[in-house]
Amino acid sequence: MLLPLWEGVRRSVRFDPSPQPPPARGGGESFPAAALSARLIDGRAIANTMRQALAARVAALPFRPGLAVVLVGDDPASAVYVRSKDRAAEMAGIAVTTLRLPGTTTEAALLAEVARLNEDPGIDGILVQLPLPRGIRQEAVIDLIDPAKDVDGFHPLNAGLLAAGRPSLIPCTPLGVMKLLEAAEVALSGRRALVLGRSHIVGRPLVALLLAAHATVTVAHSRTRDLAAECRRAEVLVAATGRAEMVRADWLAPGATVIDVGINRLADGRLVGDVAFAECAAVAGAITPVPGGVGPMTIACLLENTVTAAMRRRGG
Ligand code: GUN
Repeated sequence: MLLPLWEGVRRSVRFDPSPQPPPARGGGESFPAAALSARLIDGRAIANTMRQALAARVAALPFRPGLAVVLVGDDPASAVYVRSKDRAAEMAGIAVTTLRLPGTTTEAALLAEVARLNEDPGIDGILVQLPLPRGIRQEAVIDLIDPAKDVDGFHPLNAGLLAAGRPSLIPCTPLGVMKLLEAAEVALSGRRALVLGRSHIVGRPLVALLLAAHATVTVAHSRTRDLAAECRRAEVLVAATGRAEMVRADWLAPGATVIDVGINRLADGRLVGDVAFAECAAVAGAITPVPGGVGPMTIACLLENTVTAAMRRRGG
């Protein structure tokens, strides 16, 4: 069953009529140029539809949800992500407070800021951008965030509730992956899903969400033997390894759905995912691009979590 929201976004799943033929690979093997050509799952369009619906919900509220975004240090990628989150939240009608703290900030000072935001009645959601500079323990910061304001879903209480099958605030990237699969009408019940990567931010929560959707879930990681063979068994593959273009066309079952969580900057400046897109698009049944796939969904889900947290805290 599709949620009503998805009625509007199904149109966003584009069909690409002119896929690249699969190239021959290193060992000389090639893939049947069998006319398997992937549907492109357009995360940007799906996220935009979500954001419009959220903006309408926010406009109808008797209050403005408040989101605090905390950036410590000057990591350029984090600065870009934080700017995108700020802008999207403002556009949705959320009141954003951005704290930019120097890289020399101590753990004690950051904890004091988080404690202050926990007590601030105008703040419904707190996001501390990761990674944090060396010397600040990530766990200490996450553990201090009020679970009711934990719009990242990283607090152990929220992680535990999700693992226990009682989700509250769900991490944004895995939630975005599930919404993409739903919008693209990818069947999950009884299907073999493979999660490539076991991070606390993406891989582990995704396992819980896919299980809740009745998929048969395998999690593979850097110590998995014969990764390619594991991948080839998957009907739905989610790559979240952080390794540029690691998943190759000969790792895929023809027709598989491929969701690429990776965002990797190559030496030549190009942004690529964890999946070698051009060759995999010729084998997969459906695939997300990078950029324009999971990334925009992460931001849309952050906005949704902020509105959810605000309505729970303030009643609505
Ligand atoms: N760094 C990379 N992804 C994320 C995320 O989803 N949330 C936060 N807070 N930091 C991140």
